Amino acid sequence: MNWVNALTNGEIIALASVVVAAIGVVVAIWSRTRLTSSPSSLGQKLESQGTGASHTSEVDINIDNSRVDVSNSKRLHIGDAGAQYFAKVVNVTQGIDDRRSKADQKILFTLPPNPTIVIGREDDMIELKRRLGMSGELMRPYTVIRGLPGVGKSTAVFRLANEADVWQAFPDGVLWTHTDYVNENQRDSELDKANLMSKLCDWGRLLGNNEIGLCKTLDQAATHLRTLLHNKRMLLIVDDVWDARHAQLFKNVAGPQCATLFTTRETKIANALVDSPEDDVYLLGKLSDENGLALLKSIARSAVLDYPEECLKLIHELEGLPLSITVAGGLLYAEIANGFSPTDLIAELKHGLKLLTAGVPIGRPGRYEGKAMLTITVLLEKSTDRLDEEIRIRFAQLGFSPPKPATFELGRMSAVWAISNAKPTVQELVARGLLEPLEIGGQSRYQMHALLSLHAKNLLKTL
Ligand SMILES: Nc1ncnc2c1ncn2[C@@H]1O[C@H](COP(=O)(O)OP(=O)(O)O)[C@@H](O)[C@H]1O
Ligand SMILES: [Mg+2]
Repeated sequence: MNWVNALTNGEIIALASVVVAAIGVVVAIWSRTRLTSSPSSLGQKLESQGTGASHTSEVDINIDNSRVDVSNSKRLHIGDAGAQYFAKVVNVTQGIDDRRSKADQKILFTLPPNPTIVIGREDDMIELKRRLGMSGELMRPYTVIRGLPGVGKSTAVFRLANEADVWQAFPDGVLWTHTDYVNENQRDSELDKANLMSKLCDWGRLLGNNEIGLCKTLDQAATHLRTLLHNKRMLLIVDDVWDARHAQLFKNVAGPQCATLFTTRETKIANALVDSPEDDVYLLGKLSDENGLALLKSIARSAVLDYPEECLKLIHELEGLPLSITVAGGLLYAEIANGFSPTDLIAELKHGLKLLTAGVPIGRPGRYEGKAMLTITVLLEKSTDRLDEEIRIRFAQLGFSPPKPATFELGRMSAVWAISNAKPTVQELVARGLLEPLEIGGQSRYQMHALLSLHAKNLLKTL
């Protein structure tokens, strides 16, 4: 070690400092690598499950001092059929440095995908949060969000579930599911029951309990789940209810500090779910012209910039329905990208057929990705297939040269249907959310949304 002896004291001290500093750097890099690569620390584990499919991927959850920020929908996006999946972020436990105080916190979520874009729902959000007891008023245990197919019920509720103040209000987390479409024949079938049981089991597992599946009946499973939720303050979301009895089951699950949100397109189901429909059913409305245009612009920007008047007319034709606007926007975008002028397409869209048969982008609400998985017709048939044949034919007959906007009074409908009393049919169509009662100048009329009117017209051709 001659070279060591040759060093002066000062040089030895300097060398030792360099070595200590180097060790410090190595340790810092090593610990940082561990923090960012381990699923139990910064990189959190996101598991997703769906019917027959599951995958696990890692996402970063950034925790700032006051909230867990998982608002980046890309990170939570878990597949195209987002509505069929749910995500669970397990053990969101810790940040680093000054965020260590969060270390023991355990938050449990099943978050639906966060819509990339939500336009014109600020007031609805405020009102829904008020109902959830987030503005000082008493929390309502159950709220049903009702609205036309495609008006944005899932989008609104998905966004709500992803907002930080909602997590603060429900510190034990958010549980989300959707119920399956069932027709009369499938109701109470073994498959129907098994589907419901699997949803209850999923929630049970998320609450750390694997025994729900051992219960013999759905009621027992619900009771078991309720005991798990008894001391929890959680937001429960049951999206797209097709059968009031399904939703009833989830009502029985909720603990006393939980709030439950349901969404449905059917008036009959909405009203059956709550004691006081006037108070507890929230009607989600269509978008204003301005917001409709903003939505169209977010998808087909140059069409709106270059053809503002035609686009505004199109929004009127589509009567502010986000689903129609989104699909029309996707078609316009493709038309322009292919170098065509959108004028012809806009004219065509007004006549509807193109709209009904175009693909609907599902799974990433608020963003058109051109991935056609469903058509609007298929979505609307979910409602009309549930009608008795006679009523379905009468619904279709209302599509025969409907007035614009398509509002009908009872006498006209009796004439179209050649029956003396149109009321029972009208009541059924209202119950299914296919007609909406209106008061115009003290007179009762019934309105059919433009998209449903197009669907009726199309259905008429197949009869
Ligand atoms: N407020 C909104 N802003 C932007 N896009 C919306 C909005 N509401 C709905 N959409 C779009 O319309 C489509 C239908 O909405 P969705 O929430 O599925 O309707 P619902 O659940 O009422 O049938 C979604 O895929 C989404 O792209
Ligand atoms: Mg929906």
